[in-house]
Amino acid sequence: MRRAIAEAEVGDDVFRDDPTVMRLEATISELFSTEAAIFVPSGTMGNQAALKTLSEPGWEILCERDCHIVNYETAGPAIHSSLLVNMIDTEYGVMTAEQIENSVREPNIHSPITKIVAIENTHNRHGGTIYPLDEILKIREVADRHGLLMHLDGARIWNAHAATGIPLADWVKPFDSVSVCMSKGLGAPVGSMILGSKDFIEKALRTRKLFGGAMRQTGILAAAALYAIKNNIGRLTEDHANARVLAEGLGRVDGFTVDMKRVQTNIILVDIAGTWKTPAEILNAMKEKGVLAVPFGRTRLRFVTHLDVTREDCEKAVEIISDIKF
Ligand SMILES: Cc1ncc(COP(=O)(O)O)c(C=O)c1O
Repeated sequence: MRRAIAEAEVGDDVFRDDPTVMRLEATISELFSTEAAIFVPSGTMGNQAALKTLSEPGWEILCERDCHIVNYETAGPAIHSSLLVNMIDTEYGVMTAEQIENSVREPNIHSPITKIVAIENTHNRHGGTIYPLDEILKIREVADRHGLLMHLDGARIWNAHAATGIPLADWVKPFDSVSVCMSKGLGAPVGSMILGSKDFIEKALRTRKLFGGAMRQTGILAAAALYAIKNNIGRLTEDHANARVLAEGLGRVDGFTVDMKRVQTNIILVDIAGTWKTPAEILNAMKEKGVLAVPFGRTRLRFVTHLDVTREDCEKAVEIISDIKF
């Protein structure tokens, strides 16, 4: 990947003449069977620029309560797009078509206008859970009946594809706008893509400029993303298999609880309530022995497997953690 970056042919993407960026956009459009795609610096910008492009101020957006757009994007929907967020509770990150149907408001002059459904697949805060495609299709039917638009936060859609074998194009077809990340599981250092119709992407280019996300010799970043597409999609199943090994091992550690139903891709959530320690205490003890994870709520840790973590690393991590006296 470093070599691909060094050798990338570049132009100026603000003028839309960087050949490597153009190649990346064409490659992504073909892979997902969408009319068009553009490169943006981050998943957060991908979601927020897509929502701003789709929406009008005062619209209401339906989101799952733990979704990234609500919890980790610094109130972006309110600040950038003047959207009212209506959060729906779920057990595994999957809003049902029935929940969506029940959340759509009757049009009248008093109420916000329910206009967008945002879905996260896979769902980060629920542990990398996969959204069943048949539920998405049922939600699309509800959306069509009520004139709603649909946005996919597909930062981790590659993992859903790898775990199920369902083609990327099928995963995104029901949506009006999509963001996917080239960093995270695919291992590129920077960048996400917004996908959609030609008309939508034309407008999104303007939003990207407004957000300061139009960049110049971006080919060096696009080259990394192209390398990731070629070399790192096929290996995601290894991360999933490693995550299961790690999850099963962590589930045997005293005071740790792992809900194996959530371990569907490369994320493992561990409930540490049984240790009577704080996440910081446990994470510091682990860090001293070379094992890194992040706090994920008052009694939870998040572990992630990725291309820099081997099966042996996972087994070693379980051994190290089991030996710590919490
Ligand atoms: C589901 C999801 N969406 C969006 C993002 C945001 O991506 P970025 O960190 O590139 O802004 C993340 C990051 O972890 C994510 O998990």
